[in-house]
Formats: sequence, C-alpha cells, structure tokens
Amino acid sequence: MKYSRIVSTGSYLPPRRLTNADLVAELAAKGVETSDEWIVDRTGIRARHFAAPEVTSSELAYEAALQALSSGGLQPVDIDLIIVATSTPDMVFPSVATILQNKLGITNGCPAFDVQAVCSGFVYALTVADSLIKTSTAKRALVVGAEVFSRILDFKDRTTCVLFGDGAGAVILEASDTPGILASDLHADGRHKDILCVPGTVSGGLVLGDPTLKMDGPAVFKLAVGVLESAARAALTKAGKTDADIDWLIPHQANIRIMQSTTKKLKMSMEKLIVTVDQHGNTSAASIPLALDFAVRSGKVKRGDMLMLEGVGGGFTWGAVLVQY
Ligand code: ACO
Repeated sequence: MKYSRIVSTGSYLPPRRLTNADLVAELAAKGVETSDEWIVDRTGIRARHFAAPEVTSSELAYEAALQALSSGGLQPVDIDLIIVATSTPDMVFPSVATILQNKLGITNGCPAFDVQAVCSGFVYALTVADSLIKTSTAKRALVVGAEVFSRILDFKDRTTCVLFGDGAGAVILEASDTPGILASDLHADGRHKDILCVPGTVSGGLVLGDPTLKMDGPAVFKLAVGVLESAARAALTKAGKTDADIDWLIPHQANIRIMQSTTKKLKMSMEKLIVTVDQHGNTSAASIPLALDFAVRSGKVKRGDMLMLEGVGGGFTWGAVLVQY
C-alpha cells in the first residue's frame, strides 16, 4: 500500500436557496444597499444556500457523508477515521467529527477530530487523512468539509454578507496500491491573522468581542492569487508533474476573479476550471469537496483524471493537493 485514493464523493446543500435578487431584497429591508450587478461583477456569485436556524454543520456533514458512503457502496462501519474541516462547529466542543461519528452510528472507536484552517480546511484535512493512511493508522477515512457560515455573517456589512453560503462536501479515502493522492503542499502565515477573522469568543457565559466575520477584501485578494499559484506549483514539483498534466483545477470557490487568475497563472484553459461559486457562494471548508462532487456527478471528472485541489483562507492558510482521481 503506497497511496490513498478517493473512493467516492458526496455533498449536501440546505434547501433554502437565495438568488442575488432574493438577498438584495432581504438586505434592502434592513437598509443595506447592494445589487445583483455588483455581486456578479466582483465575485461571480449568483446564488447561495442558507441552512435553517436550527440546522448545524454536523447535520449538513451527515447528509454529505451518507451520499459519499452510498456512492462508494460502503457502510458507516467501514470507516476507521473521521476528519471534519470546519470553522462553524455545532458547539465549542466536542468536535463536529465526533458528533458526526455518533450520527452515523459508528461505534468502532475510530479516531474523529476537526481541522480548523478556515477555507483551506479541506486540503489540510485531506492531507492529514492521506498521511494517517500512509502510516497505516487508518485504512478508510471519511473527510468532510461542512459549514454554516450564514451564522457568523454580519448582515449589515454588505462587503462580506453577500459572499458566503452554507453546505457540506465529503470524500472517502482508502489505502490503495494505485494513485491516489500524489502530493500535498500546506502553509500558514499568522502575520496575516487579522485580514480575515471572526474575532469574538465565549467567556464567562458571554460572547466576548465581535462574533461576526471581518475581512479586508483587497488584502485577501492580493495574497490569495500569489499563494494559490505557488502551492499548486510546489505540489506539481513534488509529484514530478507539470501544469500540462492537470486535467481539472478545483480551487476554493471564493471569487471567480481569484479562480480565473490562478487558472491563467497555471497556463490552463478556463475550460479546465471547475466553477460552483456561482451557485454556492463561498462555503469555506465545504467549497472544494462540494465542487469536486458536483464535477464528478456532472460527468466532467472521470476516473484517472489529474485533479489539482487548492485552498486559501483565514490564518492566513493555504495549500494544494494533487490527486489522480
Ligand atoms: N454591494 C455594492 N457595493 C459594495 C458592496 C456590495 N455588496 N460591497 C462593497 N461595495 C462597495 C464598497 O463600499 C466600495 O465603494 P466605494 O468605492 O464607494 O468606497 C466599492 O464597492 C469597492 O469596494 P472594494 O472592497 O474595494 O471592492 P473590491 O473590488 O475589492 O471587491 C471583494 C470586494 C469582492 C470582497 C474583493 O476584494 C475580493 O474578492 N476579495 C477577495 C476576498 C474573498 O473572496 N474573500 C472570501 C473569503 S476569503 C477566502 O475564502 C479566501
């Protein structure tokens, strides 16, 4: 066993879908002015899904996990590692992963934990799962990105509240003699911790600080474009591959302009860029597995294709994973 390979994928979007027109009307009622034209021009986003107030990340994760299990012809008992990437957990603790383990009825005692790397969370989680499989700690991992970002938005701040959505995506990764995850490249630079953050916390039974998302959009944009290219190139070099070997680029779905810029820098055709940001908005750690699952289900991504998954987000964190699907 030399590799871990993706056996199957799944995803889930909460049923409440808001087009830009729906959101513009809701915000107008609160005295916040924006437009479909501004949102589409600056971000490429046309719609997003919001979970009902009582629905948690673990519930979205559960639905995505069930779909991934079913697509792989697997049962919950076949899983021996659970990693959930999220920045919007159900509660301070326990982790979403352990809540998901319980929801799935997995009682084999397998390890379950969350990874918190914001929008890079899924590439971090996939890399950790790959490493644990390669060291024989696990044979078959459920790796999920799940978010309810609508909970941490300030709906009076038009510069951020139009960008995000809720959802979950899941993959099942298993030990294999054939590829497989070929290479990963992960980074963080805490000097940029303030450009994208939710600065509040819980203390003495109260919320301390501001529990809504704050972002310096232009600073995030500039950093994101540079690091996404360097991480992709580093992963290619580690695997002995070049830009030309990539069949599909599946980046974090934050903003179409960041995604197009990365595609150009990697000298790839726009036809090879998987885009779901238009329909999902930015679902943070869920965006890459959601996009992957949509690309698989639509028939675009086929067995044997070379996929470049890459994420960037708060921290600042970033990373890329090169996978032969
Ligand atoms: N509707 C209408 N006008 C708006 C809106 C809105 N929703 N939001 C901002 N504006 C206005 C601003 O007030 C400003 O007006 P002014 O010039 O009169 O002051 C104008 O639009 C330009 O604002 P900027 O913030 O400079 O707009 P910019 O072109 O930088 O686009 C955006 C903003 C889309 C956030 C961009 O900076 C961006 O894409 N940044 C990347 C950040 C990102 O994608 N973050 C997602 C999370 S991070 C991640 O996932 C990696």
